[in-house]
Amino acid sequence: MSSKTIQVVEVGPRDGLQNEKAMLNVPQRLNFIRHLAASGLKRIEVGAFVSPKWVPQMNESKPLILELFKNRKLYPADAAFSALVPNVQGMEDALSTPIPEIAVFGASTESFSKKNINCTIEESLERFRAICKMARAKKIKVRGYLSVAYGCPYEGAVSEKKVIELVKTYLKMGIYEVSIGDTIGVANPKQVRNFLKKLSREVPLKKIAMHMHDTRGTALANVLVGLEMGVTVFDSSFGGLGGCPYARGASGNLATDDLVYMLHGMGLKTGVDLAKLLEYVPEMTKDIGRKLPSRTSEAGLPEVQPFIERATK
Ligand code: HMG
Ligand code: MG
Repeated sequence: MSSKTIQVVEVGPRDGLQNEKAMLNVPQRLNFIRHLAASGLKRIEVGAFVSPKWVPQMNESKPLILELFKNRKLYPADAAFSALVPNVQGMEDALSTPIPEIAVFGASTESFSKKNINCTIEESLERFRAICKMARAKKIKVRGYLSVAYGCPYEGAVSEKKVIELVKTYLKMGIYEVSIGDTIGVANPKQVRNFLKKLSREVPLKKIAMHMHDTRGTALANVLVGLEMGVTVFDSSFGGLGGCPYARGASGNLATDDLVYMLHGMGLKTGVDLAKLLEYVPEMTKDIGRKLPSRTSEAGLPEVQPFIERATK
């Protein structure tokens, strides 16, 4: 595991900000994205083409993306940007911008699907097929999220078999990577290990990302299991911002700073300059008007580090 590079997908500007009471304006959101990219984050989800009536925080994602690409040279060339798309209307909006990657988002249960995107799972799959077709024609990459895979706020336990079937359906329609969401942060390491073991018999884990919310403090333990099982892509959000407005208690994505701190300590590479990333903590604290929930943003980096290099010299 030691020389491996891990991909961190930064979802703070979308999953993070969509659940904050404070509404950041476009220049504030762009400043944030610029800092994330300058800190070495290579995959950043910058917004969502969703209804502003449903998620007002993501309003103006289109002008934001247009502005970002107008000034593309301000961002490192190897940074990749993406945005959420729920339906054909959202995809049409996405196509009117230069965004090179979009992400569709479906659910593992009917109740959550209805609450989050106002349609059944079957209807969502039809929408995603249409979106994939539109994306293929324009050579746009499509990522897919599968929410509440480890537990649903409305239905409780979720069938692993059903989740695996949905992952396979996503991949078949041309989605290149499926991010499995513990949307309300209920998963535990034993559950994750058992699930990934079953999933890996049917789908290569290189097509899988893990999207853990840290609602109950189990996200890093679950990531460790994912790493041991061979997952190499993990979603996280700066400072632990965020959640999902349609899942009560889904506060807090796994924090990018806590994730990167652990990965680097284990000798894994991410390309992220953690000290630089943390420089944005005061600005974001001011923007959202509250303390960030992550441990590393609170504690800072240890004065003597990195532990791994000292131990192996
Ligand atoms: P709907 O109300 O069923 O839509 O919403 P509709 O087709 O009936 O249209 C109603 C109105 O919405 C119309 O406007 C449409 O134009 C408009 P009106 O005529 O009333 O003025 N509309 C749109 N506006 C902007 N963008 C669009 C769009 N589509 C229709 N794309 C819809 C259906 C999907 C739009 C809505 O349910 C929605 O926006 N849902 C998004 C919810 C959301 O963003 N949730 C958070 C993200 S998911 C998440 O956080 C989980 C994740 O992190 C993974 C994990 O943690 O598990 C990804
Ligand atoms: Mg999420």
